[in-house]
Amino acid sequence: MKFVCGNFKMNGSLSSILTYTNTLNTLDSNVLKNVCVCFPTPFLLAAKNALFSLGGQNCHQLKDGAYTGETSAKMLADCGCKYVLVGHSERRKYNSEDDKTIYMKAIEAHNAKLTPIVCIGENESQIDKKYDVLRRQIMEFNPKVYSEENFSSIMFAYEPVWAIGTGRAATLQEIHSTCEFISETLIKIFGNKIPVLYGGSVSPKNAESILEIKTIDGVLVGGNCLAVDKFEEIINVSARMDA
Ligand code: PGA
Repeated sequence: MKFVCGNFKMNGSLSSILTYTNTLNTLDSNVLKNVCVCFPTPFLLAAKNALFSLGGQNCHQLKDGAYTGETSAKMLADCGCKYVLVGHSERRKYNSEDDKTIYMKAIEAHNAKLTPIVCIGENESQIDKKYDVLRRQIMEFNPKVYSEENFSSIMFAYEPVWAIGTGRAATLQEIHSTCEFISETLIKIFGNKIPVLYGGSVSPKNAESILEIKTIDGVLVGGNCLAVDKFEEIINVSARMDA
């Protein structure tokens, strides 16, 4: 089964997340091993009985200090997280996060023993130079630049910005060829295969055809993870593909 990760963004309430967690917990435990949900930070502890993995939606690039309102990677790990999204396009856009900062966040995640899920992708105006944009976003991880660092566990998520929240997912061919390019570029940097997810308007309707794409290792789901029944449909598509 391929990995299925939900990104709640700034949605939900304490009671809705408790109900959501209890509902998802009823799925087969082998299936849940390949599921992660990134709840809003204040609700992570409330979901500590989750039988699926928990993820943070962002972490700070430094270990600790006078950064009011921020959350460190270690704090997320203390709250039971195994994963953390870094560099989501909404963070890049609304919080002006650049590639260097995102790289530092991934390092902090690594130091806290979290698996960073590094989000990359071109926006609408960059479609013509998509490969240059992706190469630049990935190259920040080039060990030639940061030779001392070594990621034991890391994932990348290809999320074309124009496909996020629009109901207009990239075509299967676009996902295939772009994720192939990302994988090949990552192999050059890390020396081994790094999992690549696809995100951007994944739904119960298109999940099967997207998850069948050979060059992706899973999906990152935003809007369609909020209703637990829709998210379960996507999880079940992935679980069935194993059989
Ligand atoms: P979406 O969001 O599934 O609503 O398009 C994906 C994401 O932002 O990670």
